[in-house]
Amino acid sequence: MKKIFILSLIAGCLCAACEQQTPRYLDTTVSIDNRVEDLLKRMTLAEKIGQLNQYSDDVSDSYPMLRNDYYVQEIKEGKVGSLLNITGGTKRVREYQNLAMQSRLKIPLLIGLDVVHGYKTTFPTPLAEAASWDLDAIKLSARIAAVEASATGVNWTFAPMVDICRDPRWGRIMEGAGEDPYLASLIAVARVQGFQGDKADAVDGIMACAKHFAAYGAALAGRDYNSVDMSLRTLWDTYLPPFKAACEANVATFMNSFNDLNGIPATGSRYLQRDILKGQWKFQGFVVSDWGSIGEMITHGYAKNSKDASAKAILAGNDMDMESYGYIRFLDTLVTDDKIVDITVVDDAVRRVLRKKFEIGLFDDPYRYCDEEREKAALNNPEHAKAARSMAAKSIVLLKNDNNLLPLSKSTKTVGFIGPLVKEHKQNLGAWSIVDVFMSDVNCEEFIVSQWDGVRQRMDADSKLLYAKGCEIEGDDTSGFAEAIAVARQSDVVVLSIGESKLMTGEARSRSDISLPGVQEELVKAICATGKPVVVLINTGRPLIFNWVADNVPAILYTWWLGSQAGNAIADVLFGDVNPSAKLPLTFPRSVGQIPLYYNHFNTGRPGATDTDYVFKSGYMDVRTSPRFAFGHGLSYTDFQYADLKLSKKTMNSSEQITVSLNVTNTGKYAGEEVVQLYLRDRIGSVVRPVKELKDFKKIHLQAGETKLVEFVITNDKLCFYNDLLQYGSEAGEFDVMIGSSSEDIRLGDAFELK
Ligand code: GLC
Repeated sequence: MKKIFILSLIAGCLCAACEQQTPRYLDTTVSIDNRVEDLLKRMTLAEKIGQLNQYSDDVSDSYPMLRNDYYVQEIKEGKVGSLLNITGGTKRVREYQNLAMQSRLKIPLLIGLDVVHGYKTTFPTPLAEAASWDLDAIKLSARIAAVEASATGVNWTFAPMVDICRDPRWGRIMEGAGEDPYLASLIAVARVQGFQGDKADAVDGIMACAKHFAAYGAALAGRDYNSVDMSLRTLWDTYLPPFKAACEANVATFMNSFNDLNGIPATGSRYLQRDILKGQWKFQGFVVSDWGSIGEMITHGYAKNSKDASAKAILAGNDMDMESYGYIRFLDTLVTDDKIVDITVVDDAVRRVLRKKFEIGLFDDPYRYCDEEREKAALNNPEHAKAARSMAAKSIVLLKNDNNLLPLSKSTKTVGFIGPLVKEHKQNLGAWSIVDVFMSDVNCEEFIVSQWDGVRQRMDADSKLLYAKGCEIEGDDTSGFAEAIAVARQSDVVVLSIGESKLMTGEARSRSDISLPGVQEELVKAICATGKPVVVLINTGRPLIFNWVADNVPAILYTWWLGSQAGNAIADVLFGDVNPSAKLPLTFPRSVGQIPLYYNHFNTGRPGATDTDYVFKSGYMDVRTSPRFAFGHGLSYTDFQYADLKLSKKTMNSSEQITVSLNVTNTGKYAGEEVVQLYLRDRIGSVVRPVKELKDFKKIHLQAGETKLVEFVITNDKLCFYNDLLQYGSEAGEFDVMIGSSSEDIRLGDAFELK
């Protein structure tokens, strides 16, 4: 007995001593869930609420600390869980973490930033990357962004944006992956995996964030922040799949959205955040509001005041408050006095946030992302520039190439390079560029390869490259036309670089008229009137309307915003060092009046309208119903022939599969890549079904003359959809199989029956 007493006394002293040294939540030998629970038990309500509170740093380069002393004190008191928009790299992040380490429980900060298409090395804007249909390249782009960002102290990006969008008037269309749920879901997964890396605690990974949940891309009339109204079937069939894919790829966080969905602001939507995301999809991460979106529920007319908005948000499943100051001011009284929010709701939200902090290793080393040597190396890695250049060239869509005007010869005697974007540097970055907004110390003239630089360096030394701006991006001044015409007259071929400015797409950049701004179309007409062969480069973040150019210019490259290697990538494609292989990830309309226009539409009872035969058909009197350029469209400098389509069988049941095979041959003289697309049509359903849906694709490389066998496997999940009762499944019946080089350029077809 005595021995046991002595032993237990020793054990008691030992555990008291060890308690003094390392509390359980800091003990790396303990499971994360147990560390979370141990920490939660120790936290006061104020400290718990602090974890749900996120502030933005001052975007300016002001130093030494946050924009006012108030936050500094709050961080020390453990009342801040996360910061975003920190400039100044590891040095500054280290100072913020130092403040957090002075708090009672030493809970480190999450450091968030919109790392959307690169940190310093800037990749093409996301919609441009989507045009590559190259999932490995897209994943590598996100990977490099994470390597650079994590080296500067950032451990969380508010990306990928996975909003489906069918309306190019919406400026944020540039942030997503286009109109198709299948392609956008695969791209969402590639980006989540690229950002987060293989292990949650990889020091070169950053937490990703699937946003904006949900259906923000369907803002009425393409007007940013506008209401969204859609059937639940459309929500589930079209807008939710990329979010579900991101969730299944273990995305660390979600961000909800500014819009109201069917009358309920997404930030306050229990249906979205608790029923679907945390309920049906069993999401274990946390949800952050969009900037101020909790408070905006007052403006929506959904909450009386900030306190009411805060209650509605956290009860609906919004875990962290970005810049509404609602949780930090009102959650304590909502829990303790008003008893509107039960402490278990707060605990669940805090648990989710803390779990992420443990998973990424922040408790084991709050400074693990603050390594100035790593920062220097990561931000000056030539391999990153190479990857950005390759990604950019893969993103360029060859829309037209009459008489094979392209590729140009490097020994062309004289090339006229004309237009307002030729010599620009920063414009090539597009919107959501870290360099543009946060890195004023970067010399953009050196760091960004302008289109002029790229073409000049590529042409033979004795070739001449002449320049004229011609006009500005916006405005009605045509005084530069004469000089441009004179340059064109001296040239053997003219390359015109036109389009929008980088800030005509992105957040709060909706346009009701998506034609070429200013007098740029007039400039193209004036240059074409010289009779010289003309190539047009169109720089923008969205689909534009440019019918005259599309009808009259022999060669058109859609160059989007290609990032810090833009000039090199454009030169690579212009002169044929890279054979373009990109395909449009969304539909280009002829007229803004056609919007929304998308390829996977229903047939209606009166299809087939043409520009002459439209009476009593679903069409217009004044414009064709067909798109200007179709989803999946993109040419190559070579040609591809599709042949020998075979189906392994003509019937299947829901547990079987059909193998579709065909041969693709490169019949031209250039090696190149082709995106072979598989579309299916469910002919009859309990609800009408789209005329076609992308269900698979293969991007293959073929040498000139080479033939490759391409195979797709049709399984039941490719036949499923949501019926009128929102039940997900397939229905027996006949299906058309279409193999195409675009959604309109269908090369081969067959059919099968699901029994
Ligand atoms: C913005 C955007 C969101 C972004 C956030 C933080 O308003 O809607 O996409 O991640 O605020 O910058």
